[in-house]
Amino acid sequence: MLTTNFGPYTYQNPFMNASGVHCMTIEEMEELADSQAGSFVTKSATVAPREGNPEPRYIDLALGSINSMGLPNRGLDYYLDYAIKKQAEMPHASPFFFSVAAMNVEENITLLKKIQSSAFEGITELNLSCPNVPGKPQVAYDFELTASILKNVFSFFTKPLGVKLPPYFDLAHFDQMADILNQFPLMYVNSVNSVGNALFIDPDTDTVVIKPKDGFGGLGGAYIKPTALANVRAFYTRLKPEINIIGTGGILTGQDAYEHLLCGASMLQVGTQLHKEGPAIFARLNQELSAIMKAKGYQHIDDFRGKLQSITD
Ligand code: SIN
Repeated sequence: MLTTNFGPYTYQNPFMNASGVHCMTIEEMEELADSQAGSFVTKSATVAPREGNPEPRYIDLALGSINSMGLPNRGLDYYLDYAIKKQAEMPHASPFFFSVAAMNVEENITLLKKIQSSAFEGITELNLSCPNVPGKPQVAYDFELTASILKNVFSFFTKPLGVKLPPYFDLAHFDQMADILNQFPLMYVNSVNSVGNALFIDPDTDTVVIKPKDGFGGLGGAYIKPTALANVRAFYTRLKPEINIIGTGGILTGQDAYEHLLCGASMLQVGTQLHKEGPAIFARLNQELSAIMKAKGYQHIDDFRGKLQSITD
């Protein structure tokens, strides 16, 4: 009932982790692979390992989370070695996702050249939207830079590739970014990364709750669902149909998942709530989404995917 088509691939269900949550180590990724998630994505890798920002750098909040991790990761080779071994263990399964993030344009190219020349045959996610590295603006808020990176990347990269985007808040920006993305053979767009540079204050101590960047960090969870849905819908209605959408942001329940699918997503990533509940969340989300589909008389996700209704006179 929950199978979903994503480009040439089919997954048992649309759920997976959002990069950054439960995917730093091989042990965590193995737990995801063994869970009831339809797929999983690795932590965004940089060329060299990174410690990331000082702690506390991730705090669960009543309505979500705030983080400024700063891309801590074990480095490209750690994840690529694992990915190549893992794909050999599951030769008939639809591929999992491999996330990379860079500090500059040259590093993006180095990362993707290494993946291109490797034995990895899965799907690569290029993270253009980390809001948490001090002094480094989010690439995907610079439209010209995004276009020039993608032009460079697609001059040599021939494996399946998607991009992870930050949220946009202006219809003109949806139009401009969609025009750029439509020029390239992207497999997908993942909307959204955390809502960057939010500030949460502890009411008892009058202090910020995370240490890096004086408390400024990316917001996730229930706070951001309406923004995430708007971004999924805006890109679904603007991108060419070959570009699939991964919906990320505010998925706590089957109803949240249903709404992302209704807006046009084909896969769904869960970050904040996975951090709160652990990988057992995927069994719950599968049950809740199935129950909603049954109640509405749907047999397949494609029966309602993208079919959000407008209010007409
Ligand atoms: C981080 O490591 O700071 C989070 C990654 C991201 O938001 O892209």
